[in-house]
Amino acid sequence: MTTGAIGVARPRIEGPAKVTGTARYAADVPIEGLAFGAVVLSTVTRGRIRDIDTSAVQDMPGVLGVIDHRNALRLNPKAGGFFGPDGGLQLLQDEVIPFAGRPVALVVAETLEQAQAAAEALPVTYDEEPHDTEFTADHPSGRPAMTLFDEPVNAGDVEAELAASAVVVEERYRTPEEHHSAMEPHSATAWWDGERLEAVDSNQGPFVVAAALATLFSLGLDQVHIRTEHVGGGFGSKGLCGPQLILAAMAALRLQRPVRVTLTRAQVFLATAMRPATDQPIRIGADADGRLRAIWHEPAFEISPLAEYIEGCTELTKTLYAAPAIRTRLTAVPLDILPPYSMRGPGAAPGSFALESAMDELAERLGMDPLELRLRNEPVVGPVSGLPFSNRNLVACLREGARRFGWGTRDHRPRLRREGSLLVGTGLAATSFSAGAFPSSASITAEPDGTFTVAIGATDLGTGARTALTAVAADALAVGTERIRLRISDSDLGPAWSAGGSRGTTSWVWAISEAGAQMRRQGCRGTVTVDTTQLLGDLPSRERHSYSAVFAEVTVDPATGEVRVRRLLGMFAVGRVVNPLMARSQVIGGMIGGLSMALHEEGIRDPVSGRHVNADFAGYHIAAHADVPDIEADFVPDYEPGIPLGVKGAGEIGNVGTAAAIANAVWHATGVRQRSLPIRLDRVLEG
Ligand code: MOS
Repeated sequence: MTTGAIGVARPRIEGPAKVTGTARYAADVPIEGLAFGAVVLSTVTRGRIRDIDTSAVQDMPGVLGVIDHRNALRLNPKAGGFFGPDGGLQLLQDEVIPFAGRPVALVVAETLEQAQAAAEALPVTYDEEPHDTEFTADHPSGRPAMTLFDEPVNAGDVEAELAASAVVVEERYRTPEEHHSAMEPHSATAWWDGERLEAVDSNQGPFVVAAALATLFSLGLDQVHIRTEHVGGGFGSKGLCGPQLILAAMAALRLQRPVRVTLTRAQVFLATAMRPATDQPIRIGADADGRLRAIWHEPAFEISPLAEYIEGCTELTKTLYAAPAIRTRLTAVPLDILPPYSMRGPGAAPGSFALESAMDELAERLGMDPLELRLRNEPVVGPVSGLPFSNRNLVACLREGARRFGWGTRDHRPRLRREGSLLVGTGLAATSFSAGAFPSSASITAEPDGTFTVAIGATDLGTGARTALTAVAADALAVGTERIRLRISDSDLGPAWSAGGSRGTTSWVWAISEAGAQMRRQGCRGTVTVDTTQLLGDLPSRERHSYSAVFAEVTVDPATGEVRVRRLLGMFAVGRVVNPLMARSQVIGGMIGGLSMALHEEGIRDPVSGRHVNADFAGYHIAAHADVPDIEADFVPDYEPGIPLGVKGAGEIGNVGTAAAIANAVWHATGVRQRSLPIRLDRVLEG
């Protein structure tokens, strides 16, 4: 019997709790005897702390203590993140100031207001040193950046192919610092239960965060317990062990009582993470018929010397189009800035802006339909790897998207469509995003009342993971969803991948499917626990990606430079869709993120002070409701071979491609290329 919960559009299980206000986020959970910590951030960009005069605040009302580098617990310097050792986690360990916004103290008091008042009054003096926060691609301290997934490639003879090309586009594209801007600010409440560190924290993966916290505090993994019931978005900024958790844990240990640390909105901007600025020179050469001969893409991005991180802008360049020669290389430029981290389609989103803008410029110079240019360069195998694609439905996305959008009637010449005083244009972009699964464990217990308790250390960031995994478990056990009791959001539930890298659902579905199959084999009795580490090793080598095509229609007011997106349409190939309602919501959210990136988002850093000066939602613009037009998103039939249920990730691909589609539409409307994001009014007017 199959019950068929997968593929059915179901609303969020926790929807009623959220809209009635009974759902508790990390800062809402009531705890007896709670004290509050307020964080003090460095106001200088580089230098050393000269003094922190704690005596000035220790007698203020309610103040329980001040923790700074002189009295903080020594953390284990070996703690790291996904990219390696992470000095960004080493809070309050010395007097060195590596960037403006670095936490320098935590003031703890009986109430939040008392803690904030004392934090604001705390005198901190610094010995300032000269800083460097100005990012340029040819910065003398630039160095090669690479990881296993982002190694430089040099396939074929790029120089010779460019020389032999009928048309060469040679341009550079820039994207600014961008901030995740999740609705819920980062918050943690920590307390010590005997020898065990307990915490309720806002993060993307309680197990991964617990492992990092255990290392930092030199504890066994069984001595750390993290819960993350409801999370109001993360977009990558909650993928690591956040400053709120480290500081709350330090304070709880020192005061021997529960301490809550909630960052202010400004502190989320200044002290969590950001997408680094990028500067991406590209050269693409093609024959007169549009067949690519070479792609050369050598982006630079900024980092902090504190923490390794790779903005993998060349991911799409290696996989999207067939070309006999492809060369990519990434350069990291260390500066005195907030350590960057993965944000909303890391690497792929800024990289796609460069690659897909350049492809549009190539179509322009060839006098070709940009859609036809993409179709003509569809690869048979991985253009660099030579590996077969597991499956590849980019063409289906492009064709079906073009049909629904009405692309066929487009006149490809720019600046021809007017409506009253407005210029009107359309544009498209093709995208991919790498897919796969990471090891996770799941356990299922058959309960006496006929229900099944399904436990997995997954997280629901508001995307619908709870709802999707309930359906997956029901089908795996061949029962109705009402017989599934899902437990997630708890590091005690065993190793599990985070809600990150667009691999949450794939990784968790794998573990739950295996556990469900075993449970049925043993007659739906007792408990089974599986860990997919072994199973994942058996996957054959294939290029695995999600794909999409994004189409945009914009109006541009030539008098004011205002760009309005009028229509967005995305067709997606993301494997089997577990819940069409949630998946559609997620890719639409991603497309809005891409719209926001195209038109609004820009962290502004004052070169004199080195400080980020628009660290709030008045100065840092994100797309609001009125910016978001008619958006359509749908899925082409797709199934990922070798992965249980044929699932791939839908988490980030919506963010990828949208900015280029909009920039290309702005060119089509105005005849002027926008090679720097965001497409601000002044940039449109200058054009
Ligand atoms: Mo994501 S940017 O992998 O949370």
